[in-house]
Amino acid sequence: KKIAILNGPNLDRLGKREPEIYGHTTLADLEASLRAEFAATTSLDFFQSNHEGALIDKIAALADAKFDGIVINGAALTHTSVALRDALAGAHLPTVEVHISNIYKREEFRHTSLTAPVSLAVISGLGLEGYFAAVRFLLKR
Ligand code: DQA
Repeated sequence: KKIAILNGPNLDRLGKREPEIYGHTTLADLEASLRAEFAATTSLDFFQSNHEGALIDKIAALADAKFDGIVINGAALTHTSVALRDALAGAHLPTVEVHISNIYKREEFRHTSLTAPVSLAVISGLGLEGYFAAVRFLLKR
């Protein structure tokens, strides 16, 4: 199966950025761990961008390439981007939304997700384990 792991703005700074919230593990470490766990059974495509349009282009490409699922941490765009939501809705691929932190425990503006209604499931607050759980879930479907 082909699963894409998409990360939005500022997640390139994972491990350095607000470690009290997001931890000390870098995005490269996370990618290595996910590859180690799933490489035998799954082709994982990792993509991170700080740019909304780049994420939208990527989602369209995943749809055209008939991917089996998307794991997306849209980061701040989750709360703001109708365009990202429309891209996911249009791609029509099984999608799991992941947030490292529990967005419901944080500021009010993080409580709304525009992308949750076009996702199969949302995982929030499991830390990096959320990405592993999301891939496992998509593989079992
Ligand atoms: C986040 C939560 C968002 O509110 C925030 O803007 C992020 C990361 C998380 O993984 O917990 O950048 O998506």
